[in-house]
Amino acid sequence: MNKIRQWKKLLLPYEQAVGELKVKFKAIRKEYRDMSEYSPIEFVTGRVKKISSIIEKSQRNNMDESLIEEEMEDIAGIRIMCQFQDDIYSVVQIIRNRDGKDLKIVYEKDYIRNEKTSGYKSYHIIIKYPVQTAYGEKEILAEIQIRTLAMNFWATIEHSLNYKYKQNMPENIRERLKASAEAAAKLDLEMCEIRNEIIKAQLMFEEKSNVIRDIVDSIRVLHSSGDQEAALNFQEELDDICNSGNQEALDNLLLRIKEVLPQYQLFSKMKLD
Ligand code: GTP
Ligand code: MG
Repeated sequence: MNKIRQWKKLLLPYEQAVGELKVKFKAIRKEYRDMSEYSPIEFVTGRVKKISSIIEKSQRNNMDESLIEEEMEDIAGIRIMCQFQDDIYSVVQIIRNRDGKDLKIVYEKDYIRNEKTSGYKSYHIIIKYPVQTAYGEKEILAEIQIRTLAMNFWATIEHSLNYKYKQNMPENIRERLKASAEAAAKLDLEMCEIRNEIIKAQLMFEEKSNVIRDIVDSIRVLHSSGDQEAALNFQEELDDICNSGNQEALDNLLLRIKEVLPQYQLFSKMKLD
């Protein structure tokens, strides 16, 4: 078998694995979205390492070519981007829950709590993933990198500068990169705080709409019991409060309706019977 065919045969299962894993992680995002729930996954990318990079890395690490499949962990690479730093650990948990099912976790590296000296942050999970090929089952290694959009932005820029300068990055650029890594981390922190605000706002909205629904249901009972005047008064009050958006006034209105309601409820129940 010539060299090109050998490489092709080696890389095919990795291509299949990257394709499958991308589909699987994108499906998780779609499920959350379809259920109108928050998805910790924002987007997913994947790639198979280029032959030239595999050769370069194996030489750099004095790795025998025959050991590449056993030892090189990132021939198949998946990247999962999250909006908020907290989401990263939700994604990690999703992957841990699948350990021993469709994948096996080999080990994890938390470069978020233990950031690299370069300033690099991400959560890495090395997995073993079985691929069904025309030649039977083959278990390959894959690296999953989970990071925020800000971490990804920084890593992409830093990677291209590293590529440009190789080992000789000027000190002032290295320092600027460190400073921008800190700025990115600050952005993530601020965003995490806004995220909590958003969740709080959503819960408040939820509570408000529940109270309004309760009031409207009660007004309906008043109506069907024949007290149009009371129903109309409460309805007008509700309209006014809805315009002002005051939660306390809403709670108060609900309490007052609930006080007068029992007698009517009894009445409407009698009518129903
Ligand atoms: P290699 O760095 O790939 O030789 O593997 P390793 O065994 O040293 O593992 P490590 O976890 O350090 O790096 C794995 C991958 O994480 C790299 O291939 C990069 O994609 C990414 N990475 C690690 N460190 C950095 C960094 O300082 N900057 C950037 N941009 N990416 C990094
Ligand atoms: Mg490294």
